[in-house]
Amino acid sequence: MEKILSIKDLSVAVKTRTLVKNISFDIGEGDVVLLSGQNGVGKSSILKSIMRLETDGKRIDGTITERSFGDILLLGNEELQRYRAKIAYVQQKDEYAEMGSIQVRDIISESGEIHSGRSLSYSEVNNLIDEWIPRRSDNSRVFDAKAKPARFSGGEQRLLSVLSAITTRPQAELMIIDEPLNNLDFVNARNISNLINRVIRENPKIGLLMISHCRIFPFINREINITANGASELLEPYVCHSCFGEPDESGFY
Ligand SMILES: Nc1ncnc2c1ncn2[C@@H]1O[C@H](COP(=O)(O)OP(=O)(O)OP(=O)(O)O)[C@@H](O)[C@H]1O
Ligand SMILES: [Mg+2]
Repeated sequence: MEKILSIKDLSVAVKTRTLVKNISFDIGEGDVVLLSGQNGVGKSSILKSIMRLETDGKRIDGTITERSFGDILLLGNEELQRYRAKIAYVQQKDEYAEMGSIQVRDIISESGEIHSGRSLSYSEVNNLIDEWIPRRSDNSRVFDAKAKPARFSGGEQRLLSVLSAITTRPQAELMIIDEPLNNLDFVNARNISNLINRVIRENPKIGLLMISHCRIFPFINREINITANGASELLEPYVCHSCFGEPDESGFY
């Protein structure tokens, strides 16, 4: 399968401290990759480098080559925006706390290209939520279009981040998800696994790069482990802990 992204000899340093080094790996069409490694080893820093976010004060060496944009470390601002728009990226930290009266509809309308320049209506957003996140047993939504994320619980914020990034970028060629399960309860963790799996099934050419400390994802087909010495692809197959029972043959719980 064709490569989407190639990382070669990436290193990230702040002042005299090296955050990561010797990072080389590729993501191809249909690859579903777990990035594993201990807390603080630099996994999120690798994803931020791929997105070219939070680069101030950092020294980033090596190359990150995307198949149509070339080395993204060299892109000008306009090209960088176009490159980022092709990626469904979920950062590790949710940043809704300061958003005041901003509503779920605003977040979902602005996070991708599905709105094609217009705001979605409340009912369109509620339909989108219902399409992707099962309702609770009492038939209520986890959140609805008018809700204000600034007041959300940690788990509700996480669900919104994953939902808005991955459902509103139908053209995405890459999904990059940094710890989707933070704060999620058992039911919502299972929902998120199914939701990500659905995106993969519906877009077989998409590449997924995901960090998670929980091994609950039956659809992962490669694992790249990060240590202080660099990145290495694990040869033994990823083992899903099947916390939710046995998934079906397509990886859905
Ligand atoms: N801008 C920065 N300036 C200084 N140090 C930083 C910066 N960004 C990250 N670090 C440090 O780099 C190290 C790696 O951070 P990173 O967030 O990439 O780790 P991680 O592997 O994602 O960890 P976790 O599993 O806990 O999320 C940490 O020790 C962190 O404090
Ligand atoms: Mg991290």
